[in-house]
Amino acid sequence: MNISIFGLGYVGCVGAACCAKLGHHVIGNDISENKVNLINQGKPTIIEAEIENLVRDAHDRGLLEATMDYRYAVHKSEISFIVVGTPSSKEGHLNLNYIYGVARQIGEALADKDEFHIIAIRSTVLPGTNAKVGEIIADVSGKVRGKDFTVVSNPEFLREGTAVHDYMNPPLTLIGTDSEYAERKFRELYKDIPGEFVSTDIEVAEIMKYVNNTYHGLKIVFANEVGNICKALGIDSHKVMEIFCKDKQLNISPYYFKPGFAYGGSCLPKDSKALRTLAHDLYVDVPVINAINPSNERQKKNAVDIIESKGQCRIGILGLSFKSGTDDLRCSPIVDVAEVLLGKGYEIHIYDKNVRISQLTGTNADFIAAKLPHLHEIISDDLDTVCAESDVLVITNKEKEFAEVPQKYPHKCIVDLVRQFTELDYDGNYEGISWGNINANPAQDDKIERTMVKTEF
Ligand SMILES: NC(=O)c1ccc[n+]([C@@H]2O[C@H](COP(=O)([O-])OP(=O)(O)OC[C@H]3O[C@@H](n4cnc5c(N)ncnc54)[C@H](O)[C@@H]3O)[C@@H](O)[C@H]2O)c1
Repeated sequence: MNISIFGLGYVGCVGAACCAKLGHHVIGNDISENKVNLINQGKPTIIEAEIENLVRDAHDRGLLEATMDYRYAVHKSEISFIVVGTPSSKEGHLNLNYIYGVARQIGEALADKDEFHIIAIRSTVLPGTNAKVGEIIADVSGKVRGKDFTVVSNPEFLREGTAVHDYMNPPLTLIGTDSEYAERKFRELYKDIPGEFVSTDIEVAEIMKYVNNTYHGLKIVFANEVGNICKALGIDSHKVMEIFCKDKQLNISPYYFKPGFAYGGSCLPKDSKALRTLAHDLYVDVPVINAINPSNERQKKNAVDIIESKGQCRIGILGLSFKSGTDDLRCSPIVDVAEVLLGKGYEIHIYDKNVRISQLTGTNADFIAAKLPHLHEIISDDLDTVCAESDVLVITNKEKEFAEVPQKYPHKCIVDLVRQFTELDYDGNYEGISWGNINANPAQDDKIERTMVKTEF
C-alpha cells in the first residue's frame, strides 16, 4: 500500500519506519528540511531503540522516502496520516493549528486528485477534531466527504523508549470511521500487526487516548498513595501492589468499569473510609484516595438532578437495595436519593421484590429506620402498581423484570442508572445517568432491528 505521513517527529518517524517494515511504501512529509534530509539519507529523525536499523533498511529497500512537497505526498499515496504535534496551552487547551495546517495542505492537493483518498488522524486530538478536519479539507478541495475522501481517527498508543516494539505489538488497533471502505483498507494495512482490531464511532476513538492516559495517571498516583500509607506503617508497598495485581477478577479486570450509579453497600464505603482515616492519622496526604467519596456523593446528586429535571412529582424507584438479588439496604445509594427527594416533597413509590420490611433485621433494619422511617407506606412488591402510580421510573439495578418496563409503560420518563438497555424504541423520555439518549429513531434508520437488548459487558 502507498501511504504518506505528515509529521516526521517522534511518532511519525516510528510510524514511517514500521509501516515500511510491514511492506508498505511510505512517503514522509515535514516542514523541517533537516528531518526530510535525514530520512532521505536513511537516518532517523529521533533517538529510539531499533529505529536506526529500521529506517536504514526501509530506505535501502526503496520503501521509505521523504519530501517537503505535500502535493507529491498526497498524489502518490492512498492514505495520508496526520502525525503533527498537538501541544497544549497553559490552560490545557489543545493547539490544533498544526493539524489544521496539514488539513489545508491535503485539501489543496486533493483539489486535483481524482482517486478516493483516506486521511487518518494519528495525533492525539479531542472529540470533534475529525469532523473539523473533514470540513477544512472539503472547503479547500471542493471535494465531498464520503464520496471523494474520508477522515479516519487512528490514535497511537506507543510509549517513548519502547516505541518500535509498542508500534508492532499494540494492546489493540483502534480506528474510528464512518466509512466501510476505510475500515477494509485499515484491516489490510495492519493485517500483520497482532492484537484486536477495533473499529468504532469516530468520537469514541478520539476520546480513547485521553481516557487511557488519564487512567494511567490515576493508576500511578493511586499506587504512590498506597505506597506512602504502607511506608508510614512499615509495610512493603511493593509486596502489597504485587498481590493487588494478582486479583484479575475485581482489581485488574473490566469489573467496576461500567459508567453508572454510585457505589454503596456495607463494605466499599466503610473500608475506603477506614483507609482515609488511617492515612489522616498517619499524617499521610492522600488527595486521590480522599477524592473518591466526594465523587461518589456527586453521582448521587447527579441522579437527584436528573430526576428533578423531568419536572414530575410522582417518582417510582425500581430497586432499593444496593444491588440486585439482595435485601441489603445498608449504604444503598438510592436510599440517599429517595431521602433527598422525600425531603423536597416528591411523592415516592418504591418497588423491590427482595425487601420485606418485616424480615429486615440488625443493622440493615436500623439503617433503613433512620433513613426512611415511613418506608412501609411507600414500598410495594407489585411492580405494575408502582409504575402506574409514577410519572418518572428510576431503574436502579439490572433485575430482568425491569427490561420490560419501557414496553409496558411507553409514555413515562425513564431514568436509567445502570444501563439496563443498549437500545430501545421508546416514545417516553429516556435518560441514562452517565450516557445520553439511546432511543432508536425509526424515522432515521428502518434497517435497525428494534429489540430491547440488555447490555452484556
Ligand atoms: N511522543 C509520544 O510518545 C506520543 C505517543 C502517542 C501519541 N502522540 C501524539 O502524536 C502527535 C505527534 O507527537 P510527536 O511526539 O511525534 O510530535 P513531534 O513534535 O515530535 O513531531 C511533530 C512533527 O510535525 C512536523 N510538522 C508540523 N507542521 C507540519 C506540517 N504542516 N506538515 C508536515 N509536518 C509538520 C514538525 O516539524 C515535527 O517534525 C501528538 O499529537 C502527540 O500527542 C505522541
